Amino acid sequence: MHRFRILKVASSALALLTACVCGTGQTQAESATRQIAVPLPPMGWSSWNSFSNTIDAQITMDQAKAMVSRGIAKAGYQYVNIDEGWWLGERDADGNILVDHKAWPALAAGERAGDMSNIVRFIHGLGLKAGIYTDAGKDGCSLYPDLGPVYQHVGSEGHYEQDFLQFAKWGFDYVKVDWCGGDKEKLDPAIQYAEIARAIAKAEVTTGRKLYFSICNWGNNSPWTWAPNIGGAPADIWRTSGDIVAPIVPHHQHSGRLASFPGVLSNFDQGIHPEAQHTGFYNDPDMMVIGMPGLTDAQNRVHMSLWAISGAPLLLGADLTTLSDATLAALTNPEVLAVDQDSLGLQGVKVASYLDGLEVWSKRLSTSGERAVLLLNRTGDAASISAHWADLGLEDASPAKVRDIWTHKDLGSFNSNYSATVQPNDAVMVVVLGSESKVTPYFPDGDDAGKGPEVSFSRVASRVPMARIQIVYTNSGTTSRYAEIRVNGRIATKIAFPPTGGRDALGAVWIQALLDRSGSANELNFSPASDPGIRIVSIGVQ
Ligand code: GLA
Repeated sequence: MHRFRILKVASSALALLTACVCGTGQTQAESATRQIAVPLPPMGWSSWNSFSNTIDAQITMDQAKAMVSRGIAKAGYQYVNIDEGWWLGERDADGNILVDHKAWPALAAGERAGDMSNIVRFIHGLGLKAGIYTDAGKDGCSLYPDLGPVYQHVGSEGHYEQDFLQFAKWGFDYVKVDWCGGDKEKLDPAIQYAEIARAIAKAEVTTGRKLYFSICNWGNNSPWTWAPNIGGAPADIWRTSGDIVAPIVPHHQHSGRLASFPGVLSNFDQGIHPEAQHTGFYNDPDMMVIGMPGLTDAQNRVHMSLWAISGAPLLLGADLTTLSDATLAALTNPEVLAVDQDSLGLQGVKVASYLDGLEVWSKRLSTSGERAVLLLNRTGDAASISAHWADLGLEDASPAKVRDIWTHKDLGSFNSNYSATVQPNDAVMVVVLGSESKVTPYFPDGDDAGKGPEVSFSRVASRVPMARIQIVYTNSGTTSRYAEIRVNGRIATKIAFPPTGGRDALGAVWIQALLDRSGSANELNFSPASDPGIRIVSIGVQ
């Protein structure tokens, strides 16, 4: 028989006063729980959308300099990512990657042409971080060239440990791993990317450098079901769809291509998997097309809003040297960036929709009672859209303050809902600060609650199907520990539990889980089986 207790308490993201059912069966008040910081979605620039496989050292340096001189780096963007086209599939007799000397020359005295550490040094010299690119298969996407000839063998299969060690030795901080070769060979992405994650971890140990892991298999085989913590990765992102746009490279064939707003919306929609996005693991709806030909200023603003409310990686794809002032302002808006980079690391979810195409999206933020809210009008007519406090998980009876984060204006205090007229194919983005609705704490089933290798919570109820769940735990180690969660018997996701600073120091992280059984019929089960280092104390469900 399950033993459980339910207490209704008001909670805040920062301080949830919990009670625990201890081994003795006594109930005892626990101290306030600290929200534990999780890795945030990466911000930076990638070469593919505007330079395709023409990328070289000169372009990379110009973009890196623009990132600094135009205030983009100051706003938080830091990665300069070199995408496909940087090498042509040649290796020496020992299997080491060979790099074209002309495209990647010496950049400073004492440097050797064809050494990728030259460009890394340049990027690091500007205070930025450097990213590189490969493929999980033997071949890469150069088999299907956007510009230029076909190049074979531009992939890392058969050389995983050698290549990732090389990337780390060159000094790179980030690696994107594509899937053209893997797809051609019909490999299993969950297996290949796990092997790659282990090769990255090995390279990190050897060099002492961290390589951020970006998985790019376009949503094939539902990476949101296997990519969080794959192969032990402490943080990663995974693409959820195909490319928003084929590259638009001035003065080359296809220079007349345009980015499209429906393409932006489609990638946004395909990127929504809130159950997988938590504790440093992120859905990646693709590099952004903000500022590229084809989008109006209003569409750029909506694009930015969509990526921010979904807590997506913000990887710019435009030519940073030619951005308009309006685009620069949009992509550096600190209040919108703060939504994307909120320390809970959750994804926004659609909490209401009306007629066909009037939608309310909400992202829980780390400040108690705070929600980022997007009123999205996908229709061709202006329309009024209302966000109701109850739909946002806020107390209906309490007034809430509303601030427009695009115009930086406080709009006032409102009772029960906020309505705005939204132009056709446009959006309004606000931050609502109200009172959190009740969080229901649950304590582990059984007498040895919180001690055993498995921890279960039964009879869990939530008012909304996609429940927000705060997990209170301890991790006395110095590195993150991981546990798998099952929801109603289904493997849901793997969660990272960063150190809390001691055996008795409580910490909390947040996830979202689909509690699809009615009433209190839901069961949650955590399996830290191989990991006695964490103790899951309680959960709070909203
Ligand atoms: C795929 C990826 C893109 C880009 C290109 C390079 O299409 O999805 O992001 O890396 O390959 O060819």
